[in-house]
Amino acid sequence: MEHNILVTGGAGYIGSHVVVRLHEEGFNPIILDDFSNSEKSVLDRLHKITGKHFKSYEGDILDTGLLEQIFSDNQIEGVIHFAAKKAVGESVEKPLKYYKNNVSGLLTVIEAMLAGKVKNLVFSSSCTVYGEPDELPVTEASPEKPANSPYGNTKQIGEEIIQDTVTSGVALKSIALRYFNPIGAHPSGEIGELPLGIPSNLVPFITQTAAGIREKITVFGNDYDTPDGTCIRDYIHVMDLADAHVQCLKHLDNTESDNHFDVVNVGTGKGNTVLEAIKAFEAVTQVKLNYEIGPRRAGDVEKIYAQVDKSRKLLDWSTKYSLSDSMRDAWNWQKRISDL
Ligand code: UD1
Repeated sequence: MEHNILVTGGAGYIGSHVVVRLHEEGFNPIILDDFSNSEKSVLDRLHKITGKHFKSYEGDILDTGLLEQIFSDNQIEGVIHFAAKKAVGESVEKPLKYYKNNVSGLLTVIEAMLAGKVKNLVFSSSCTVYGEPDELPVTEASPEKPANSPYGNTKQIGEEIIQDTVTSGVALKSIALRYFNPIGAHPSGEIGELPLGIPSNLVPFITQTAAGIREKITVFGNDYDTPDGTCIRDYIHVMDLADAHVQCLKHLDNTESDNHFDVVNVGTGKGNTVLEAIKAFEAVTQVKLNYEIGPRRAGDVEKIYAQVDKSRKLLDWSTKYSLSDSMRDAWNWQKRISDL
């Protein structure tokens, strides 16, 4: 029997890497993507990596009819729901777009799952739910803070929607994975992150600067209460992150109760400063980065990194890639897309 898993947003950055890992672990990923923030060539690139053409549907997560069709065409065992908007700044300017896609989109998915009697759901959440944490490392029991953007709010609301649905007693088993900072790319250089326009995230900005697309990178503040004054984050290789999703599906499958919700941190457990990230990039690639120290960026958290005991125990999972590995793979990918 084919273990069909619907991957919404399966052509996107994290989704595409999850598709590869699912295939490697004997699952059959089926992709739903509207290609609003991804390219159709990803499907060919996935074929290059895995030797397989995955079934894919082009369409909107809000299209109830399409979801019903996907569930009736295929016997789906579980859903990994990525399809969502993720630009923090844009969410402040266009909140409705974010609530519509991320909140209504999740409702559509859950309704279609309940109608199709599909029980297992993995939801993409974010460490943004912790805001500026009071204690480090953050555990899943650390208090949530009011979201500082509509994007962050959609992740908090998403978790609550799933929790409330499970509490209502329906047959739904779900884990929300709280991602820390995903970086890097598939080691083959075939798939990776494709930021539209000027990147706001650190690593795409680093690799674009190294590739000569940007003149220099600005480090947002060096007067934080950290060893070198720059912010601390928990950077996790996207393949390790992808692996956590596969483990999550296996865990849900082994969970006897048909009515279950849990949240799990997915990070490395280690924090690195912005300057350490830049130095790791320079050391592994031998490329000198043109960087300068600039003012703080509004809304940035000073320091955050994960406590990973729960993911280790519950998902039987741990990270395999180092920060240097992530930087090497991010650079390989950048060189590939920049024809360097
Ligand atoms: C951001 C979001 C987070 C979201 C994630 C997804 C905020 C406050 N957080 O995480 O909710 O889930 O993106 O993409 O927006 N930096 C520089 N120079 C740059 C870019 C970044 O110094 O040009 C620094 C930032 O100040 C930060 C670190 O690099 O300290 C990481 O930044 P980034 O990659 O944007 O991720 P987050 O802000 O952690």
